[in-house]
Amino acid sequence: MKNKTFLLTAGMILAAAGIALVSCSKKAEPFKTAKIDPNDYEPSNWGKVYPLQHELWEKTKEPTAEGKSRYKKGFDADKVTYDKLSEFPYMALLFNGWGFGIEYNEPRGHYHMLKDVLEIDASRRKAGGVCLTCKTPYARELQTKYGKDYFSKAFAEIHALIPKNHSELGVACISCHDGEDMSLKILNDFTLGNALRAMGADTAKLSRQDMRSLVCAQCHVTYSIIKDRDMKSVGVVFPWKNGKHGKITIEDIIKTIKEDPSLLEWKQVVTGFKIGFIRHPEYELFSNDSVHWKAGLACADCHMPYVRSGSYKISDHRVMSPLKKDLKACIVCHTEGADWLRQRVYSIQDRTASLMLRAGYATATAAKLFEITHKGMEEGKRIDKSVYEKAKDYYLEAFYRTTFVGAENSMGFHNPQEAMRILGDAVAFANRSEILLRHALAKAAIDVPEKIDLELKKYLNDRGEKKLKFNPKFEIKDPFKTHERF
Ligand code: HEC
Ligand code: HEC
Ligand code: HEC
Ligand code: HEC
Repeated sequence: MKNKTFLLTAGMILAAAGIALVSCSKKAEPFKTAKIDPNDYEPSNWGKVYPLQHELWEKTKEPTAEGKSRYKKGFDADKVTYDKLSEFPYMALLFNGWGFGIEYNEPRGHYHMLKDVLEIDASRRKAGGVCLTCKTPYARELQTKYGKDYFSKAFAEIHALIPKNHSELGVACISCHDGEDMSLKILNDFTLGNALRAMGADTAKLSRQDMRSLVCAQCHVTYSIIKDRDMKSVGVVFPWKNGKHGKITIEDIIKTIKEDPSLLEWKQVVTGFKIGFIRHPEYELFSNDSVHWKAGLACADCHMPYVRSGSYKISDHRVMSPLKKDLKACIVCHTEGADWLRQRVYSIQDRTASLMLRAGYATATAAKLFEITHKGMEEGKRIDKSVYEKAKDYYLEAFYRTTFVGAENSMGFHNPQEAMRILGDAVAFANRSEILLRHALAKAAIDVPEKIDLELKKYLNDRGEKKLKFNPKFEIKDPFKTHERF
């Protein structure tokens, strides 16, 4: 794992020096290529050849602009954490039982990804070494060397195998590039490559535009941690095999999770059900027939647009929300102007958030009804088995859909129509589940109030001391008042 010597060629020296030499010329220069040892993990070595990209990449450690994004506040300059659980309290109920119910933060800059995992509540690392898969460029190497142990051994033990100087290094040049010619490449072939091949895609024939999204899809996708009988992690898989490259639907994902008991990662406290989980499906939502996907865009078009640096035109390696960069990436195509466009984005996001709350509270209500049902069963009340099974099935359909949109990081923007379709279905499934359960409970002579008490304060408080770390300025509003109409 030692960094090999960095191959310095005459061309490279020229490339680096060229920046100074040609900086007065007006025309944009194509970038120069030079060989870098493809096994070199150290970004500053790549930065000797490509200082401009390196500088922008490093900037992801800085806090992003405040007040420019309604839903993605990230971390501000006071290192305040914005967490999903206080913004969407129904999540604290639904995720109670494991790490996500204790700490579930909004993302921040790439530079921090591994550090943030080290600092997050320990319950979030319980799955073991597998948690490093999207957080360190060493995942591939560790997985090759240690096989199953990489996934199952304790997080700290596997983390200690990363060279000390890189123990906090997140996504690096090597994660996305082949040093030989700087073309894009998939470093984590053992996750993304396998997932694409399982859908019948030929990973040797991916276009450049495909790659401009797929480098991101190494991490910005949902994944499932495979568990053995003793609930030890034994692998990681993207639950895509029922989908197609360019169209992975929520239905395909749910089918994959439901078919395979080894993908049921945790036990939800309120219902007692063993269930799967859905994480940040940016690639899945975007690539499923969105307007921009159909128009031929890739993630990099909006999140890494070309910027001028002296006489060079380079990709902006300071990856972040386009809203925080005043929509410069968008106005290339949309001539209406940044303010108009920002309002369009907000309007899409507000609608998504509104339906997401509706779906979330409907799902949480069904979950509480299961709690009441289970209590009744314990007390010897007879619940109609087939009605119960149907209600459970509908509940899970609602849970996965609600979680999908809640975990996706654009609040619907990546594919507004699809996000609304998924949430509409989630509301319908959750309501159906509630009706069936009320029916079964009535037949068993169990009295249920019209308005179910979700006990959200209890779940929010259950996060314990961790919540003290969250934004002191961010008021945890009384969920009953805030979301009364749900
Ligand atoms: C190796 C995994 C990995 C890859 C590859 C990756 N990301 Fe990320 N990305 C993350 C993680 C993890 C976070 C959250 C970091 C945190 O909160 O500490 C994140 C955060 C982000 C954010 C939020 C930044 C902010 O300022 O809040 C954006 C936007 C983003 N990624 C887009 C992309 C795009 C676009 C690509 C492809 C060009 C990409 N990412 C490639 C793992 C990855
Ligand atoms: C058409 C432009 C566009 C494309 C293409 C696009 N995004 Fe986005 N993305 C956005 C916008 C707009 C937001 C919302 C940002 C906000 O609310 O601040 C966003 C939000 C995000 C966020 C959360 C940002 C944050 O600050 O927390 C991530 C992560 C992300 N996108 C990743 C991706 C990935 C991965 C892809 C490709 C699969 C992709 N995006 C494709 C425009 C785009
Ligand atoms: C998350 C993935 C990702 C990471 C990490 C990353 N790049 Fe890139 N890089 C890209 C994408 C996407 C492009 C656009 C490539 C294309 O259009 O073919 C690009 C393009 C480039 C180019 C070609 C010129 C340009 O700017 O378009 C250079 C040189 C480059 N990157 C250097 C680096 C260096 C140096 C690092 C590390 C400090 C790095 N990259 C880290 C994704 C990444
Ligand atoms: C490469 C060109 C291109 C870029 C870059 C681009 N768009 Fe678009 N956008 C399109 C096209 C094409 C459509 C579909 C036709 C139309 O509505 O004009 C579209 C549609 C839209 C719509 C209406 C879509 C809907 O789903 O209802 C919004 C809103 C939008 N874009 C916002 C953005 C934002 C915000 C960004 C930057 C983060 C962006 N676009 C970047 C080409 C682009």
